[in-house]
This record gives sequence, C-alpha cells and structure tokens, in this order.
Amino acid sequence: MQRIVVLTGAGVSAESGLSTFRGGGGLWDNHRVEDVATPEAFARDPDLVQRFYNERRAKAREVQPNAAHTALAQLARADGVHLTLVTQNVDGLHEAAGSPRVIHMHGALDGALCAACDHRWPAPLVIDGSTPCPACGAKAARPDIVWFGEVPYHMDEIAEALGQADIFAAIGTSGRVYPAAGFVDYASAQGATCIEFNLDASEVAQSFDDHRIGPATQTVPAWIAEVTG
Ligand code: APR
Repeated sequence: MQRIVVLTGAGVSAESGLSTFRGGGGLWDNHRVEDVATPEAFARDPDLVQRFYNERRAKAREVQPNAAHTALAQLARADGVHLTLVTQNVDGLHEAAGSPRVIHMHGALDGALCAACDHRWPAPLVIDGSTPCPACGAKAARPDIVWFGEVPYHMDEIAEALGQADIFAAIGTSGRVYPAAGFVDYASAQGATCIEFNLDASEVAQSFDDHRIGPATQTVPAWIAEVTG
C-alpha cells in the first residue's frame, strides 16, 4: 500500500476559472487578503467581508472541476493507494469531481458558522447580518472559513497522515502560508518523497525532491498515471 498525502492550493482551481489569492498583483479578486480574510476585518466591516464571501460562494457554484481535480478523485479509488487529500481551498471542486473525502483545513464556502455558539450548518447562498443561527438564534453568522490568525482545522489528522506518508505532493500552492507551507519539511523528515506541482518554483521549492512545472491540468493527470501504472 502506497500512502500518499496531497495538499492542494488555489492553483489547482485556477484553470476552472477561480482566481488565486496572490495573482493579479497580489490582490484576491481586487481585495487585499488582510481586508477580507482576518477576524479584524470582519469586526471592522462585516458587510464588506460577508459580501466578499457571498460573491466567492456564488462564483464557486458556477465553475466546474478540471482534469486535475478529476485525476485526484481517481487516485483516491486506485488499488494499492491510500490517499489523504488536504486542501487549503474553500471551493467544493474536489467534491464535485468525486473525491470521497476532502480535508478542508481552511474551511469551506458552503459552511456557515455561528460566532456566538460555534454551531455549523450548510451556508445559504447569501449570509448577512440578519442570518439567524438555527441552533441558538443569534444573528452572528459568518462563513466557516479559517481566517489569518485563526487555527486551521484537522491539524492532528493531517500530521498523522504526513507522518506515515510515502509520498507528499503539493499542488498549486505558493508556500507562503503556514502551517501548510511547512508540511513538506515535516513529511520529508519523516521519510516521504516530496513532489511539487506549480507553474514555477514556490517559496519552499528547495524542500521538495521533485518538481513538475506546468499547468496542474496536465502535470497532475500525468503523475497520477505514473503512480497508478
Ligand atoms: N497549475 C499549477 N499551479 C498553479 C496554476 C496552475 N494552473 N495557477 C497558479 N498556480 C500556482 C501559482 O504559481 C501559485 O504558486 O498556484 C499558487 C497559488 O498560490 P496562492 O494564490 O498563494 O494560493 P495558496 O497557496 O492556495 O494560498 C494559501 O493563503 O490567502 C490564504 O487562506 C488562503 O488558503 C489560502 C492560503
């Protein structure tokens, strides 16, 4: 059994038409990340932050998974492979492609979270200041997204999978946001072979054993064909 951990970032969804975080002159859909993706930004201007994520949620529902998402869904079902798929993305394109289990370490656009009681529920298309929590009734709904300064989800499970991995693959991530950017060093120290898939070298490229340069829709299916024989 080959144990494989894949970490995906915004680059895996770029060819589906979703913008990356640090494309477009360092702006995410015309906003600085710190103006829309921090607890401080939400406290300062909740309407702006809700509007921003409402737009992302609407856009994410319009797009389709691409060949990289589809190949990863096939890898999960391949004989002799145990795959742990971790994504930093908040879109649902891995699920739409048929991936059976996706660990969303930065949360997901299709989730809502009550800031008053921590209840989680499926997000309506639009969340705003009048959206009540179905559990406690508080009008304190926010997107169930991990913002800068908040603790990513499922870290224990991810660390365990990285510790047992034969192969660690990072796909379409800039290596600028920790803890995800540190996964390669952890997996490598535990004996995994580490492969990076990107359009060019990421911030942590030197930590990888192998680099597949090019669009994920080409490099990822080619690698998965190699792995599955
Ligand atoms: N194929 C492969 N790689 C690509 C492609 C593509 N078609 N298009 C872009 N990339 C690469 C870019 O070269 C870049 O290195 O994907 C990476 C995207 O980087 P970021 O925009 O920084 O996205 P990501 O690494 O996922 O961001 C991490 O930062 O803002 C936070 O929480 C947010 O989860 C996000 C985290």
